[in-house]
Order: sequence, then C-alpha cells, then structure tokens
Amino acid sequence: MSGTQQSIHSQWSNKFTYVLAATGAAVGLGNIWKFPYIMGENGGGAFVLVYLACIALVGVPIMIAEVYLGKKGRLSPMRSVAQVAKQNSASPLWQLAGGMGVLAGYLILSFYAVVAGWACAYIFKAAAGEFNGQDATALGQTFGDFIADPASLLVWTSCILALTVFVVARGLQRGLEKATRFMMPAMLLLLIVIVGYSSMYGDMSATLSFMFAADFSKLTVDSVLTALGHSFFSLSLASGIMIMYGAYLPEKTSIVKTSVWIACADTLVALLAGLAIFPIVFANGLEPGAGPGLIFVTLPLAFGQMPAGQLIGTVFFVMLVFAAFTSAIALIESSVAWLVEKCGFRRVQAAIVAGIGLWILSLLSVYSFAPNTWAQTDIFGETKSYFDVLDYFASNILLPLGGLFIALFVGWKVRKTDLANELNLPQAIFQTLILLLKVITPIFIIAVFLNLIGVVKF
Ligand code: TRP
Repeated sequence: MSGTQQSIHSQWSNKFTYVLAATGAAVGLGNIWKFPYIMGENGGGAFVLVYLACIALVGVPIMIAEVYLGKKGRLSPMRSVAQVAKQNSASPLWQLAGGMGVLAGYLILSFYAVVAGWACAYIFKAAAGEFNGQDATALGQTFGDFIADPASLLVWTSCILALTVFVVARGLQRGLEKATRFMMPAMLLLLIVIVGYSSMYGDMSATLSFMFAADFSKLTVDSVLTALGHSFFSLSLASGIMIMYGAYLPEKTSIVKTSVWIACADTLVALLAGLAIFPIVFANGLEPGAGPGLIFVTLPLAFGQMPAGQLIGTVFFVMLVFAAFTSAIALIESSVAWLVEKCGFRRVQAAIVAGIGLWILSLLSVYSFAPNTWAQTDIFGETKSYFDVLDYFASNILLPLGGLFIALFVGWKVRKTDLANELNLPQAIFQTLILLLKVITPIFIIAVFLNLIGVVKF
C-alpha cells in the first residue's frame, strides 16, 4: 500500500510555492558568507566542481529521501518517520532520525535568530550613514560594542523571533507561503542589483579568478569534506525541514524534479552572493576573511568608501535579513507542527509556545560575547561560548548523524516498490539512487563526521 496518509495539516497551494518556500529555507546565512569564502580558500573552480558533485551525489539523494518520508508520513518529522517505519515493519527507533532533525532545527534557530538580529540592526546603521568614511578599527569597534551589548541584541533577537512566530502562527498558506512569495523574489532582485553594482564599481576580474580559476593543487581531502559538510548545511538537510515541507506536498508533485530545482537554486544564490560580495571587497583592497567579520566589518568598510554605498549597504542588509528570515520560519515550523499534533494545540498557541522556548534558549547566544560571556562551557576541553557550542553540536553532530540515519533508513528499510512508484524514475537512475543512499552517502557522511569531531584527520 503506497497509500495516501490523511493529514491534519494543510498543503502548499501548488508546487511553485513549495519550491519557493524550500528554496527560502535552503538559502540563508550559509550561502551568503560561508560559501563564497570556502570556495576561494579551497581552490576556486576546482572546489566548485567538488561541491556540485556533493550536491548531486549526496545532497539531492538525501533531499529526495527526506521529502519522500514527509510525503508518506504527512506528519512532523519524527512522527512521519515513525509512520513510514510502521508501514515498512521497521523498528520504531528509526523515528529518532526525524527527532534529531527537529532538535537540530530548534537549536540552530536559537543562534540563527541572534545573527539575523545583527543583520536587522545593520540595516539601520547602514541607512543612517554610520559607515561613511570610517576605518577598519572604528568599524571593528562598532561591531564589537554592538555584540557586547546584550540589551540591544535581545531587542533585535526578540523582534526576529516575534515576527517568525507571527508568520508561522498564520498557518501554511497565509503565513509561510505569503512571506516567502514576497521575500524570495525580493531577495533575489536585491542580490542581482548588488551584483550589478559590484560589476560596475567593484573588481569583477579579481573576483572571477578568486572564485573560478580551477586550482586543483589547493584541493585537499579536507576540502572535499568541507564541500560535503557545507552542501548538507546549505540545503538544510537533516534538520527536519525537508521532511516537514514534504509533508505539505500536494499529492501529484514530483519529488525528484522539485528537489533538483531547489538544489540548483540554492547553488545559484551561493554563486551570486560571491559575485556580489567579493568585487566590493577586492576593489577596496580588503581581505576576503570568513565569518561575521566579512559581513559586519569588511563590507561596511567598503560601503563607507564607495559611491552610493549608504544605499547599497542598506539594500545588502535588507537582502540578508530576507534570506535569514525565510530560513527562520522554516527552522521553527517542525516544532510548531509537532506541538499541534502531540499536544492538540492550535497553530497560534503552538507558535507562541515554541517561540517562548526559543527566546529563552536564545539568551545563551545573546550572552555569549565578551564581556558578557556568562554562557561559557569547557565540555570540549577548550572554553567555548554557548553560541559556538550550539552551532557545533547542531551542525557538526546532529546534522551528519541525522542525515546518515535517513539515508540508511530509506536505502535499506523502505520497500523499493513503494519508493519506485512514488519517484517514477527510469530504472537505471532509480538503481543508482538506491546505491547512493545505501552505501555511498553513508560512507561519505561517516568520513565527514569522524573528520569533523576530530577522531580522524584526513
Ligand atoms: N540552509 C541554511 C543556510 O544556508 C541553514 C539551515 C540549516 C537551515 N538547516 C536548516 C535553514 C533548516 C532552515 C531550516 O543558511
């Protein structure tokens, strides 16, 4: 029985809004600063090829597996997996794979909301011209002072969380769809405007060689693992969301085609982000450094010196907030759906309860920056703030393990006739997909996992 599970949840209005919402979940902070940087660091064009291979061979198969689980279970991730396990007479323990995803999403959002709050605050700083003519030290100081002020971080984080709760409380079609239908095209448009600006006023040729010159000598085993880990994070895999969004999929939508679309769109945005950011960085003789510094110190420095920098800076941070926000609503959705199912809450109640929990958890990240670092721990042998610990635990432990179990479950436990019926692929491609899920993807993930937690260094 490949059956249609009756759902207590609603469905996407059409496959287009689903693709948009899932792309909104995938496109986020990871695409905008992390991808362009690691790509340059790891041999540019050579790394892009490896990354594309990871997306195609690991990312897309796991996405297909997740959406399949959601569509068959029609429930929140943990309960969808439990449902499919029952349909296939497999152990109910497999549902932990879904549960880990929901937990990962919840933990990620507790610090993601804080960073989205920074971006929000920087919209106003950019618009007020605070970067104009400032030097690197002054802007470093501005950022340092800002994150050292828990009161204002808390205000911004609360705004982001309140807005997230508000949108999610309105339901699937009136909330999530409506927000992504406006924000994703707007984000893309703003990104393209910045790429246009960068090609006029920035150093595009330095960018093109930084990003695309294929230097295979810089490519190490480590960069292959980096590419794999990032493809995972960037496509929002193993964090519950693709199972959840799959549970809302209209019956006739093709899982395979939409997954390929989402993966392509996510990769395209990552490449565009590089073309937007680096020309500005290089034209001003700045370092393409990684992480928060690139976005919150280096770029403001460049905007402060460039023609129309005040406007473009503002546009940039609005774009970043849109990208982060469509991820934030995705990150909270599975816990809200779970509360609706499990506790019989109405959506509004569920969203508020999940939001309050997140707000409390986000305090750990708000208080993670000097001199207010009461939230510190040394469980990993070194002193880390909870901001780092949450990121590490969710991204490096829960995501790879969750992905591994999903691949193994769908590869080994789900009846192949059901899967073949649903995916409707040519035989050879279907067999390849199964081989990927059963063997190749698990081996890859185990290699990344062991490398990440430092058990083996390749
Ligand atoms: N993909 C997001 C990014 O690139 C981050 C992310 C990871 C995410 N898991 C998620 C977003 C689950 C939404 C839902 O920034």
